[in-house]
Amino acid sequence: MHSTTEVALNMTDGLDITDDQIDHFRRSGFFLIPNPLGAEGIRIVDRAQQDIEPVWAEMSFPDGFNRLACQWLMVGEPLLQMAERPELLDAARRILQTDTVHIGAVGLGAATNVIGTDSQQQVQWHTDGGPDVQQVSFRTALDRHDTSNGPLRVLPGSQHRSRDEVAAELLQLELATGTHEEAPSLCFARHPHEVEVVLDPRWTLVWTPSTWHATGVKTAAGPRRAMAWNYYPQGGRTRDLEALKHIHPNWPDWPEDRRQLWGLL
Ligand SMILES: [Fe+2]
Repeated sequence: MHSTTEVALNMTDGLDITDDQIDHFRRSGFFLIPNPLGAEGIRIVDRAQQDIEPVWAEMSFPDGFNRLACQWLMVGEPLLQMAERPELLDAARRILQTDTVHIGAVGLGAATNVIGTDSQQQVQWHTDGGPDVQQVSFRTALDRHDTSNGPLRVLPGSQHRSRDEVAAELLQLELATGTHEEAPSLCFARHPHEVEVVLDPRWTLVWTPSTWHATGVKTAAGPRRAMAWNYYPQGGRTRDLEALKHIHPNWPDWPEDRRQLWGLL
């Protein structure tokens, strides 16, 4: 495995999450914290990603594996340990109001190349959940995602609303752009209450993908690499379990608490 797996990171101190931040998550679906990797850790992961990507691009993985999850897992220990930080686990447990959380999905790389439509380099409004899906996602940018670099746009509070209601609202806003001959199937139009999250590598977004979200258009040249890892309550998603076992075949030797945290028990 990659040499960076041997590197122990000096990660950011002071990640204790306040009740105000958690209240903001409950209301609006997000808050921001300092990047847990710290400046040095960001550089290490940045270099590791650039080393891994060409190797990863040539690799084939079993059917059903999420390729961006495989890339995250290939970085190895620095990211595993980051996601296992006690302050982050404490935050996830408080947000999800449960004692038992697991990490069920991860991702690293240039997501718009994979999920965006090629012609637009933009992701349409959607939700990866809904009012009944409890989840906490941590999202970090390896390159600054500013207005010209396909920033994430979230609709605060929409995690509490019915899917049909929000979808109908977004469709009306899309039609109000006056650019369509018939009702479109994908909506991108700006919502008056959306928050365009300019994500700088110094900060990490803590949010629920149960909020409706989209991206802005990428007009800037250069990469737009993102990194994410998601916590779920018991019974929640275990999307990347098989990829984890595949890339870390020594998992049966992991301590019990680590296996629990990664959904392996
Ligand atoms: Fe999404």
